[in-house]
Amino acid sequence: MSSKIFLALLVFTCIYSCYAQQGSVVEALTAYNKWREENGKVYSSEAEKIYRQSVFLENYQSVQEHNKNSNHTYSVGINQFSDITLQEYQQRILMKNSPLNELAKNKNRLLQSSPIQNSNDTQIASSIDWRKKGGVSPVKNQGECGGCWTFSATGLMESFNLIHNKPQNVSLYSQQQLLDCVTLENGYFSEGCEGGVPSDAVQYAADFGVLSDNEYPYTGIQGQCNITSKTNGFQPVQFSYLDGTAEGLRKALNYGPVSVAMDASNMKEYTSGVFNNCTSKQFNLNHAVLAVGYDEEGNWIIKNSKGPNWGMEGYFLLAPGNTCGILELDFQITA
Ligand SMILES: *[C@@H]1O[C@H](CO)[C@@H](O)[C@H](O)[C@H]1NC(C)=O
Ligand SMILES: *[C@@H]1O[C@H](CO)[C@@H](O)[C@H](O)[C@H]1NC(C)=O
Ligand SMILES: *[C@@H]1O[C@H](CO)[C@@H](O)[C@H](O)[C@H]1NC(C)=O
Ligand SMILES: *[C@@H]1O[C@H](CO)[C@@H](O)[C@H](O)[C@H]1NC(C)=O
Ligand SMILES: *[C@@H]1O[C@H](CO)[C@@H](O)[C@H](O)[C@H]1NC(C)=O
Repeated sequence: MSSKIFLALLVFTCIYSCYAQQGSVVEALTAYNKWREENGKVYSSEAEKIYRQSVFLENYQSVQEHNKNSNHTYSVGINQFSDITLQEYQQRILMKNSPLNELAKNKNRLLQSSPIQNSNDTQIASSIDWRKKGGVSPVKNQGECGGCWTFSATGLMESFNLIHNKPQNVSLYSQQQLLDCVTLENGYFSEGCEGGVPSDAVQYAADFGVLSDNEYPYTGIQGQCNITSKTNGFQPVQFSYLDGTAEGLRKALNYGPVSVAMDASNMKEYTSGVFNNCTSKQFNLNHAVLAVGYDEEGNWIIKNSKGPNWGMEGYFLLAPGNTCGILELDFQITA
């Protein structure tokens, strides 16, 4: 803890001198106190509290700087992750140990079922947004667990059910069942909060069924698989990986939402606009989400699992094409 205090003092001193010049240290501290109250933050020790405040102030400053630059196509802001560092975010909230990179390299193995059969007949709209057609369930929150892959899978199943079975009420499926039961021991590639494969989760649901969120509620901690039956609720019949092209994803989105993997390393503070900040072509596929459409400019409309207060009411836009690796591992439920 002593190195943490030292670091905190160091950062704090720097921030004080930086802000002193601009005379905005009071503004930053006011913002911090307001944020801490609104987010109900309680820290385990005084040292931790000082350290977290210094991290917040640093983030606060970089947010202001980013938004001042009119070249940026997206805005950032203070949100629930503002007292953790980018590195902590990548370790705790994204998939620390993502199996998706290895899978993307061996994609041919996944293409057991061929790309969408009826694609030649599909009319491609100039834009599509399944939220406007009642085809998307409410935004959920994965909390501090890299279980995004279970949310991508439940979001996909919920949308498929809404669009194709037209139920009276929205059904919400259990991420926790997927987190607990879709494991290496049970023959899948997934490892709970460390990371997993959305299509594993859909395959599991096809094999065993998935209960409702109410019946098997979310804790965000991987536990014992508490399932004995093989018919537990919703059971998709078939899914297909797409061909990896933007045209393929557009076609598929005209049929319904699509589960996508991406590199979300730099998305911690996104608030609105078109995200495009993936610097390398060597994507780290550390996040799984749900594409629910595209706009007239070709930006992908994506549902996240960080709650409705993150981004644009829980959603974000990604620049057209293979931005952040979005075309690497797309798949869709077809029956
Ligand atoms: C914006 O981009 C232009 C062209 O690349 C560059 O010359 C300019 O310095 C940039 N502005 C800022 C504030 O970064
Ligand atoms: C779709 O079109 C391509 C190219 O014209 C053709 O090779 C393929 O057989 C068609 N697929 C179906 C299902 O009709
Ligand atoms: C749908 O929800 C309403 C209100 O909660 C409830 O009264 C109704 O029984 C539900 N219908 C079905 C089919 O579950
Ligand atoms: C399993 O589910 C049953 C019924 O909901 C519950 O009573 C039991 O505590 C659960 N067991 C575990 C290990 O979670
Ligand atoms: C990209 O994200 C990183 C990490 O958040 C940030 O430091 C950098 O300024 C961003 N670059 C652009 C061009 O937005």
